[in-house]
Amino acid sequence: MRIAIVGGRGQLGRVLAQTLGAQHQVLILDLPECDITQRSEIDCIADRAPDLVIHAAAMTDVDACARDPRAAFVANALGTQNVALACQRVRAPMVYISTNEVFDGAKDSPYLELDEPHAINSYGASKLAGERYVQMLLDRFYIVRLSWLFAPLGNNFPQKIIKLAKQKGALSVVTDEIANPTYAPDLAQAIVQLIETNHFGIYHLTNEGSVSRYNFAARILQLAGLAHIPLTPISLADYERDSTPPANGALANFAAATVLGIKLRPWQEALEEFFKSNV
Ligand SMILES: NC(=O)c1ccc[n+]([C@@H]2O[C@H](COP(=O)([O-])OP(=O)(O)OC[C@H]3O[C@@H](n4cnc5c(N)ncnc54)[C@H](OP(=O)(O)O)[C@@H]3O)[C@@H](O)[C@H]2O)c1
Repeated sequence: MRIAIVGGRGQLGRVLAQTLGAQHQVLILDLPECDITQRSEIDCIADRAPDLVIHAAAMTDVDACARDPRAAFVANALGTQNVALACQRVRAPMVYISTNEVFDGAKDSPYLELDEPHAINSYGASKLAGERYVQMLLDRFYIVRLSWLFAPLGNNFPQKIIKLAKQKGALSVVTDEIANPTYAPDLAQAIVQLIETNHFGIYHLTNEGSVSRYNFAARILQLAGLAHIPLTPISLADYERDSTPPANGALANFAAATVLGIKLRPWQEALEEFFKSNV
Protein backbone atom coordinates (compact mmCIF):
# COMPACT_ATOMS: atom_id res chain seq x y z
CA MET A 1 0.00 0.00 0.00
CA ARG A 2 0.98 3.63 -0.48
CA ILE A 3 0.56 5.07 3.01
CA ALA A 4 0.79 8.81 3.72
CA ILE A 5 1.77 9.62 7.31
CA VAL A 6 0.70 13.16 8.18
CA GLY A 7 2.83 14.29 11.12
CA GLY A 8 5.40 11.75 9.94
CA ARG A 9 8.31 13.47 11.68
CA GLY A 10 6.68 13.58 15.14
CA GLN A 11 7.29 11.15 18.00
CA LEU A 12 4.76 8.58 16.77
CA GLY A 13 5.09 9.45 13.07
CA ARG A 14 8.78 8.48 12.96
CA VAL A 15 8.14 5.09 14.58
CA LEU A 16 5.17 4.48 12.27
CA ALA A 17 7.29 5.35 9.22
CA GLN A 18 10.00 2.93 10.30
CA THR A 19 7.58 0.10 11.13
CA LEU A 20 5.33 0.46 8.08
CA GLY A 21 8.31 1.02 5.77
CA ALA A 22 9.17 -2.69 5.99
CA GLN A 23 6.01 -3.69 4.10
CA HIS A 24 4.59 -0.54 2.53
CA GLN A 25 5.54 2.51 0.51
CA VAL A 26 5.55 5.36 3.04
CA LEU A 27 5.07 9.06 2.21
CA ILE A 28 6.00 11.44 5.03
CA LEU A 29 4.11 14.72 5.27
CA ASP A 30 4.85 17.25 8.02
CA LEU A 31 5.65 20.87 8.76
CA PRO A 32 7.10 23.01 7.29
CA GLU A 33 6.31 21.82 3.74
CA CYS A 34 2.92 20.38 4.69
CA ASP A 35 0.64 22.45 6.93
CA ILE A 36 -2.71 20.80 7.53
CA THR A 37 -4.28 24.10 8.56
CA GLN A 38 -4.01 25.30 4.93
CA ARG A 39 -6.76 24.41 2.48
CA SER A 40 -4.11 23.77 -0.19
CA GLU A 41 -3.07 20.75 1.86
CA ILE A 42 -6.13 18.90 0.58
CA ASP A 43 -4.61 18.95 -2.93
CA CYS A 44 -1.15 18.23 -1.60
CA ILE A 45 -2.26 15.00 0.10
CA ALA A 46 -4.75 14.00 -2.63
CA ASP A 47 -2.20 14.55 -5.44
CA ARG A 48 -0.01 11.85 -3.91
CA ALA A 49 -2.86 9.34 -4.32
CA PRO A 50 -2.36 7.40 -1.08
CA ASP A 51 -4.22 4.15 -0.49
CA LEU A 52 -4.40 4.99 3.22
CA VAL A 53 -3.66 8.10 5.29
CA ILE A 54 -2.45 7.94 8.89
CA HIS A 55 -3.11 11.32 10.48
CA ALA A 56 -0.78 11.75 13.47
CA ALA A 57 -0.19 15.51 13.18
CA ALA A 58 -1.52 17.68 15.97
CA MET A 59 -0.87 20.55 18.30
CA THR A 60 0.13 18.24 21.16
CA ASP A 61 1.29 20.68 23.85
CA VAL A 62 -1.78 20.50 26.07
CA ASP A 63 -0.85 23.58 28.11
CA ALA A 64 -0.26 25.62 24.94
CA CYS A 65 -3.71 24.44 23.76
CA ALA A 66 -5.21 25.75 27.03
CA ARG A 67 -3.51 29.12 26.55
CA ASP A 68 -4.54 29.38 22.90
CA PRO A 69 -7.72 27.34 22.29
CA ARG A 70 -8.21 28.93 18.87
CA ALA A 71 -4.84 27.62 17.65
CA ALA A 72 -5.74 24.18 19.07
CA PHE A 73 -9.03 24.09 17.16
CA VAL A 74 -7.42 25.35 13.94
CA ALA A 75 -4.75 22.61 14.02
CA ASN A 76 -6.60 19.71 15.60
CA ALA A 77 -10.16 20.22 14.35
CA LEU A 78 -9.97 22.22 11.09
CA GLY A 79 -6.63 20.62 10.20
CA THR A 80 -8.26 17.21 10.55
CA GLN A 81 -11.17 18.40 8.40
CA ASN A 82 -8.65 19.16 5.63
CA VAL A 83 -6.99 15.75 5.94
CA ALA A 84 -10.40 14.05 5.93
CA LEU A 85 -11.45 15.98 2.79
CA ALA A 86 -8.27 14.82 1.06
CA CYS A 87 -9.10 11.21 2.03
CA GLN A 88 -12.64 11.69 0.77
CA ARG A 89 -11.35 12.96 -2.59
CA VAL A 90 -9.11 9.95 -3.24
CA ARG A 91 -11.36 7.46 -1.43
CA ALA A 92 -8.61 6.54 1.00
CA PRO A 93 -9.44 5.29 4.48
CA MET A 94 -7.95 7.26 7.37
CA VAL A 95 -6.35 6.27 10.65
CA TYR A 96 -6.96 9.24 12.95
CA ILE A 97 -4.71 9.26 16.01
CA SER A 98 -6.68 10.56 18.97
CA THR A 99 -6.39 10.77 22.72
CA ASN A 100 -7.76 9.69 26.10
CA GLU A 101 -8.32 13.41 26.78
CA VAL A 102 -11.61 13.24 24.84
CA PHE A 103 -13.00 11.91 28.18
CA ASP A 104 -13.66 13.94 31.33
CA GLY A 105 -12.02 11.51 33.76
CA ALA A 106 -15.05 11.22 36.05
CA LYS A 107 -15.62 7.49 35.42
CA ASP A 108 -14.32 5.18 38.13
CA SER A 109 -13.08 2.49 35.73
CA PRO A 110 -11.22 2.52 32.38
CA TYR A 111 -13.09 4.09 29.44
CA LEU A 112 -14.43 1.78 26.73
CA GLU A 113 -14.71 2.76 23.06
CA LEU A 114 -18.50 2.81 23.61
CA ASP A 115 -18.36 5.46 26.36
CA GLU A 116 -19.60 8.94 25.50
CA PRO A 117 -16.71 11.43 25.19
CA HIS A 118 -16.85 14.68 27.12
CA ALA A 119 -13.67 16.74 26.98
CA ILE A 120 -12.73 19.12 29.80
CA ASN A 121 -9.82 20.98 28.20
CA SER A 122 -9.02 22.66 24.87
CA TYR A 123 -6.68 19.92 23.68
CA GLY A 124 -9.29 17.20 24.32
CA ALA A 125 -12.13 19.26 22.86
CA SER A 126 -10.14 20.06 19.70
CA LYS A 127 -9.13 16.41 19.21
CA LEU A 128 -12.76 15.36 19.78
CA ALA A 129 -13.87 17.88 17.15
CA GLY A 130 -11.29 16.24 14.85
CA GLU A 131 -12.87 12.83 15.54
CA ARG A 132 -16.27 14.27 14.62
CA TYR A 133 -14.98 15.63 11.28
CA VAL A 134 -13.58 12.19 10.49
CA GLN A 135 -16.92 10.55 11.34
CA MET A 136 -18.90 13.16 9.37
CA LEU A 137 -16.79 13.16 6.22
CA LEU A 138 -15.60 9.57 5.85
CA ASP A 139 -17.24 6.20 5.85
CA ARG A 140 -14.00 4.23 6.18
CA PHE A 141 -11.87 5.24 9.16
CA TYR A 142 -10.13 3.93 12.24
CA ILE A 143 -10.08 6.30 15.22
CA VAL A 144 -7.23 5.14 17.47
CA ARG A 145 -7.12 6.64 20.97
CA LEU A 146 -4.02 6.37 23.12
CA SER A 147 -2.46 7.98 26.18
CA TRP A 148 0.97 8.87 27.60
CA LEU A 149 2.91 8.04 24.44
CA PHE A 150 6.63 7.36 24.78
CA ALA A 151 9.12 6.57 22.06
CA PRO A 152 12.87 6.38 21.56
CA LEU A 153 12.92 9.95 20.24
CA GLY A 154 10.51 12.53 21.52
CA ASN A 155 9.49 14.80 24.32
CA ASN A 156 7.76 12.27 26.58
CA PHE A 157 7.17 11.57 30.28
CA PRO A 158 10.03 9.08 30.84
CA GLN A 159 12.56 11.43 29.18
CA LYS A 160 11.24 14.41 31.18
CA ILE A 161 11.40 12.53 34.51
CA ILE A 162 14.99 11.44 33.90
CA LYS A 163 16.05 14.94 32.83
CA LEU A 164 14.35 16.66 35.79
CA ALA A 165 15.66 14.09 38.29
CA LYS A 166 19.22 14.75 37.12
CA GLN A 167 18.74 18.52 37.03
CA LYS A 168 16.83 19.03 40.29
CA GLY A 169 17.81 16.05 42.44
CA ALA A 170 14.22 15.73 43.76
CA LEU A 171 10.78 15.45 42.17
CA SER A 172 7.11 15.95 43.06
CA VAL A 173 4.64 13.96 40.94
CA VAL A 174 0.85 13.66 41.05
CA THR A 175 -0.83 10.55 42.43
CA ASP A 176 -4.38 11.23 41.23
CA GLU A 177 -3.86 11.35 37.45
CA ILE A 178 -4.14 7.86 35.97
CA ALA A 179 -3.72 6.58 32.41
CA ASN A 180 -2.02 3.91 30.30
CA PRO A 181 1.55 4.37 29.08
CA THR A 182 1.75 3.63 25.35
CA TYR A 183 5.07 2.56 23.82
CA ALA A 184 5.13 3.85 20.24
CA PRO A 185 6.79 0.74 18.69
CA ASP A 186 4.06 -1.48 20.24
CA LEU A 187 1.35 0.87 19.03
CA ALA A 188 2.86 0.96 15.52
CA GLN A 189 2.79 -2.87 15.37
CA ALA A 190 -0.86 -2.85 16.48
CA ILE A 191 -1.70 -0.28 13.77
CA VAL A 192 0.05 -2.48 11.16
CA GLN A 193 -2.31 -5.31 12.21
CA LEU A 194 -5.37 -3.04 12.38
CA ILE A 195 -5.05 -1.64 8.86
CA GLU A 196 -5.01 -5.17 7.42
CA THR A 197 -8.48 -5.86 8.83
CA ASN A 198 -10.73 -3.26 7.14
CA HIS A 199 -12.66 -3.51 10.41
CA PHE A 200 -13.31 0.22 10.64
CA GLY A 201 -14.29 1.88 13.91
CA ILE A 202 -13.05 3.34 17.18
CA TYR A 203 -10.23 1.61 19.05
CA HIS A 204 -8.37 2.13 22.32
CA LEU A 205 -4.79 0.98 21.71
CA THR A 206 -2.47 1.43 24.68
CA ASN A 207 -0.18 -0.88 26.57
CA GLU A 208 -2.18 -3.01 29.01
CA GLY A 209 -2.69 -1.69 32.51
CA SER A 210 -3.08 1.75 33.99
CA VAL A 211 -0.92 3.58 36.52
CA SER A 212 -0.70 6.92 38.31
CA ARG A 213 1.86 9.47 37.16
CA TYR A 214 3.55 8.99 40.55
CA ASN A 215 3.95 5.20 40.25
CA PHE A 216 4.99 5.53 36.60
CA ALA A 217 7.68 8.04 37.62
CA ALA A 218 8.83 5.73 40.45
CA ARG A 219 9.32 2.84 38.00
CA ILE A 220 11.12 5.11 35.52
CA LEU A 221 13.55 6.24 38.25
CA GLN A 222 14.22 2.61 39.26
CA LEU A 223 14.96 1.53 35.70
CA ALA A 224 17.14 4.61 35.12
CA GLY A 225 19.24 3.81 38.20
CA LEU A 226 17.88 6.96 39.90
CA ALA A 227 15.81 5.30 42.66
CA HIS A 228 17.74 7.35 45.26
CA ILE A 229 16.09 10.58 43.95
CA PRO A 230 13.40 11.67 46.47
CA LEU A 231 9.92 11.47 44.92
CA THR A 232 7.17 13.38 46.72
CA PRO A 233 3.50 12.49 46.09
CA ILE A 234 1.29 15.50 45.33
CA SER A 235 -2.26 15.89 44.03
CA LEU A 236 -3.50 17.49 40.81
CA ALA A 237 -4.87 20.33 42.95
CA ASP A 238 -1.29 21.07 44.15
CA TYR A 239 0.19 21.07 40.64
CA GLU A 240 -0.31 24.34 38.83
CA ARG A 241 -0.56 24.07 35.08
CA ASP A 242 -2.59 25.70 32.31
CA SER A 243 -4.46 22.57 31.21
CA THR A 244 -6.68 20.32 33.34
CA PRO A 245 -6.03 16.66 32.57
CA PRO A 246 -8.79 14.11 33.17
CA ALA A 247 -8.09 12.48 36.58
CA ASN A 248 -9.02 9.02 35.32
CA GLY A 249 -7.69 8.92 31.76
CA ALA A 250 -7.41 5.14 31.68
CA LEU A 251 -8.57 3.47 28.46
CA ALA A 252 -9.72 -0.14 28.09
CA ASN A 253 -8.93 -1.94 24.85
CA PHE A 254 -12.32 -3.62 24.48
CA ALA A 255 -12.98 -3.53 20.71
CA ALA A 256 -9.64 -4.56 19.18
CA ALA A 257 -8.94 -7.21 21.82
CA THR A 258 -12.43 -8.75 21.62
CA VAL A 259 -13.06 -8.72 17.89
CA LEU A 260 -9.61 -8.66 16.28
CA GLY A 261 -7.35 -10.23 18.89
CA ILE A 262 -5.14 -7.11 18.81
CA LYS A 263 -3.70 -6.39 22.24
CA LEU A 264 -0.55 -4.64 23.43
CA ARG A 265 1.67 -6.12 26.15
CA PRO A 266 1.64 -4.72 29.74
CA TRP A 267 3.19 -1.27 30.08
CA GLN A 268 5.78 -2.56 32.57
CA GLU A 269 7.30 -4.87 29.92
CA ALA A 270 7.25 -2.12 27.31
CA LEU A 271 8.99 0.32 29.68
CA GLU A 272 11.72 -2.24 30.39
CA GLU A 273 12.32 -2.66 26.67
CA PHE A 274 12.42 1.12 26.22
CA PHE A 275 15.23 1.27 28.77
CA LYS A 276 17.11 -1.71 27.31
CA SER A 277 17.08 -0.32 23.80
CA ASN A 278 17.07 3.45 24.19
CA VAL A 279 18.30 5.01 27.39
N1 LIG B 1 2.13 12.41 23.10
C1 LIG B 1 1.16 11.83 23.81
O1 LIG B 1 1.30 11.49 24.99
C2 LIG B 1 -0.17 11.57 23.13
C3 LIG B 1 -1.22 11.03 23.89
C4 LIG B 1 -2.45 10.79 23.27
C5 LIG B 1 -2.61 11.05 21.93
N2 LIG B 1 -1.58 11.59 21.22
C6 LIG B 1 -1.81 11.88 19.80
O2 LIG B 1 -0.84 11.14 19.07
C7 LIG B 1 -0.48 11.86 17.88
C8 LIG B 1 1.03 11.92 17.78
O3 LIG B 1 1.55 12.52 18.96
P1 LIG B 1 3.13 12.79 19.09
O4 LIG B 1 3.48 12.71 20.53
O5 LIG B 1 3.86 11.97 18.08
O6 LIG B 1 3.16 14.32 18.68
P2 LIG B 1 4.37 15.22 18.15
O7 LIG B 1 5.68 14.58 18.46
O8 LIG B 1 4.08 16.59 18.66
O9 LIG B 1 4.17 15.13 16.57
C9 LIG B 1 3.14 15.82 15.93
C10 LIG B 1 3.67 16.19 14.58
O10 LIG B 1 2.65 16.96 13.93
C11 LIG B 1 3.28 18.10 13.36
N3 LIG B 1 2.33 19.19 13.18
C12 LIG B 1 1.85 20.05 14.11
N4 LIG B 1 1.03 20.95 13.53
C13 LIG B 1 1.00 20.65 12.21
C14 LIG B 1 0.39 21.23 11.08
N5 LIG B 1 -0.36 22.33 11.19
N6 LIG B 1 0.57 20.66 9.87
C15 LIG B 1 1.34 19.55 9.73
N7 LIG B 1 1.98 18.98 10.76
C16 LIG B 1 1.82 19.52 11.98
C17 LIG B 1 4.38 18.46 14.33
O11 LIG B 1 5.32 19.33 13.74
P3 LIG B 1 6.17 20.34 14.70
O12 LIG B 1 6.92 19.46 15.65
O13 LIG B 1 7.01 21.08 13.74
O14 LIG B 1 5.13 21.17 15.40
C18 LIG B 1 4.94 17.07 14.64
O15 LIG B 1 5.87 16.65 13.68
C19 LIG B 1 -1.18 13.21 17.99
O16 LIG B 1 -2.35 13.18 17.20
C20 LIG B 1 -1.57 13.33 19.44
O17 LIG B 1 -2.73 14.11 19.61
C21 LIG B 1 -0.37 11.83 21.78
